[in-house]
Amino acid sequence: PPQQAADIGEVLVTADEIAERIAALAAKVDADYAGRELLLVGVLKGAVMVMADLSRALRTPLTMEFMAVSSYGSATSSSGVVRILKDLDRSIEGRDVLVVEDIIDSGLTLSWLLKNLRSRNPASLEVLALFRKPEAITVDVDVRYVGFDIPSAFVVGYGLDYGEHYRTLPFVGTLTPEAIARGPRP
Ligand code: PRP
Ligand code: MN
Ligand code: MG
Repeated sequence: PPQQAADIGEVLVTADEIAERIAALAAKVDADYAGRELLLVGVLKGAVMVMADLSRALRTPLTMEFMAVSSYGSATSSSGVVRILKDLDRSIEGRDVLVVEDIIDSGLTLSWLLKNLRSRNPASLEVLALFRKPEAITVDVDVRYVGFDIPSAFVVGYGLDYGEHYRTLPFVGTLTPEAIARGPRP
């Protein structure tokens, strides 16, 4: 991981800023779901960092499930065609579901996912996304909790990848043009 930091052009959101924002979002979620039990649905793989930190910041009783979806797209953009790589293990019928995402880019993944999950009849269905690119959104998705609105540059870190790499960086930043040209590296 330290080696990967050399490929970062500009840090957009620091590790401290992420921690602070997640604590604030957790407080909001706790207030909104008082007296209820949450089912967090993390969208693999990007959301693993948010899930780990958010779930531990919440005081609301919760259980966790994961879905893995993949959009048929290039390394740096998504197409809106989504396939389920790993489905939920259990029914979400009657549950208060909070979908946890790292980022909303075009919104296509989430739009598809919400439609899919809604058909399983949860009691409620909301979304928490740590990052959102307002300029890149092409479909309107109703997102209850947003961490940061960021410019529509290609960014990595804190779960976000470039060809599966850079997810473990503790901050979010852009890649240098050299690193993009070189391609994802081990
Ligand atoms: C990324 C990101 C979101 C989605 C956002 O996932 O984690 O899930 O793209 O893009 P969209 O709003 O344009 O649909 P990706 O498909 O790269 O899979 P990953 O989480 O495993 O990296
Ligand atoms: Mn993802
Ligand atoms: Mg990805």
